Amino acid sequence: MKTYIDKHKQRFLDELMTLLRMPSISADSAYQEDVLKTADAVAAFLKAAGANNVDVCETPGYPVVYGDYHVDDALPTVLVYGHYDVQPADPLDLWDSEPFNPVVKVTDIHPDGAVFARGACDDKGQFFMHLKAFEAMVATGNTPCNMKFMIEGEEEVGSSNLAWFVQRNHQRLSCDVIVISDTGMIAPGVPSITTGLRGLSYVEVEVTGPNRDLHSGLYGGAVANPINALADMISQLHDKDRQVTIPGFYDRVETMPQKERDRLAKAPFTLDAYKQSLDLNGIQGEKSYSTMERTGIRPALDVNGIWGGYTGEGAKTVIASKAYAKISMRLVGEQDHEAITKAFTTYFMSLAPEGVKVKVSPFHGGQPYVCPTDHPGYLAAEKALKVVYGMDALPVRSGGSIPIVALFEAELGVKSILLGFGLDSDAIHSPNEHYGLRNFYDGIRSIPLFYQFYAEGTTS
Ligand code: BES
Ligand code: MN
Ligand code: MN
Repeated sequence: MKTYIDKHKQRFLDELMTLLRMPSISADSAYQEDVLKTADAVAAFLKAAGANNVDVCETPGYPVVYGDYHVDDALPTVLVYGHYDVQPADPLDLWDSEPFNPVVKVTDIHPDGAVFARGACDDKGQFFMHLKAFEAMVATGNTPCNMKFMIEGEEEVGSSNLAWFVQRNHQRLSCDVIVISDTGMIAPGVPSITTGLRGLSYVEVEVTGPNRDLHSGLYGGAVANPINALADMISQLHDKDRQVTIPGFYDRVETMPQKERDRLAKAPFTLDAYKQSLDLNGIQGEKSYSTMERTGIRPALDVNGIWGGYTGEGAKTVIASKAYAKISMRLVGEQDHEAITKAFTTYFMSLAPEGVKVKVSPFHGGQPYVCPTDHPGYLAAEKALKVVYGMDALPVRSGGSIPIVALFEAELGVKSILLGFGLDSDAIHSPNEHYGLRNFYDGIRSIPLFYQFYAEGTTS
């Protein structure tokens, strides 16, 4: 197996580069053709690796690429999930190279080189490890499990048509465990398995004041300015302890036992390095919680974008008619994204001062997810990483969201193992996204071991 991987290393990377040249931006309809072409390319790679029943499945949105490899009914079945769509690349001027012209460069964190391109880590580089591990397994006659692949094209826009697909394909997707490489590891060379993902409620708010833009001299001070009002309302969403003020917001947040918190505190994390990596002279967050806890086990509310009024060159004296913001809430425990969206809406409307109207539009959402560390899939991942990295993997809770993971559990009754190899510094969603070659190849080596240990653990 290792010989096969070593022998074909360069081709694996070249093929990944081919995929990275395709701008599969799901959020921007200008790239529709490219997204569809990427689905076809993924299907072709799956077929070439040895998958059967390869299908580019229509959905109301972008297609889901499916393929499988059946070995024996007596063996367990593993479903691999990933996404071939990527985030938009802008702001383009902050990239040091073209986002869809991948280049390999050495960095401090990646002395063996990293490939720079939009989607390199999230998620093309990571799901491609599974295709190449699969290819190596088939080529060397080493297939201890039945395998299924499902690579979707709408993750970055909330997977809104995936429930539709999963509901109609229970049989085709039936499996014993799901494995996903779309998260990160704690530090270079330090293996970890993500045991939690936060849920998500995402809304856009619109505040309307006067029926037209006004001269800010003739009217300033006499009517409610929607931008002032919006800023005021947003500032009321947190209290002085940086707790979210929405009534009932924390009702279904579990309190973490002290033992769990002590375990979290053992993770190799240094606040100074964190601050330095972000050029911050201080940090901010919910009182009485550590930074790891604030992203791992606590919910959060953040404005993701805010606009309105005049933002062009120079000064224009104007009171805008409308102001807008996009707001995300990251959820944990038993917090339900629909209930939270409702609670937000009621509360936010109640904050509106006289003289403005408020509209709240919900976008996509997803439920939080937790994976127990005694799950057979978790144990198999732990063993695989121990072989490759020579040390025990740490369970970590991530602040990010993959809404489909909770949906898989609800629809298929199956747990997902989050076997990610990205680093926080890989700049996913940001300019200069990259993925370490070391991480890529370590992943390709780890995945076949995962199948081996999973089969051993579930059949003996
Ligand atoms: N792969 C990420 C999520 C992620 C990254 C989780 C790193 C844990 C560690 C995924 O593609 C993503 O970006 N998810 C979005 C939500 C989605 C609905 C747009 C997110 O978390 O903002
Ligand atoms: Mn992703
Ligand atoms: Mn993403």
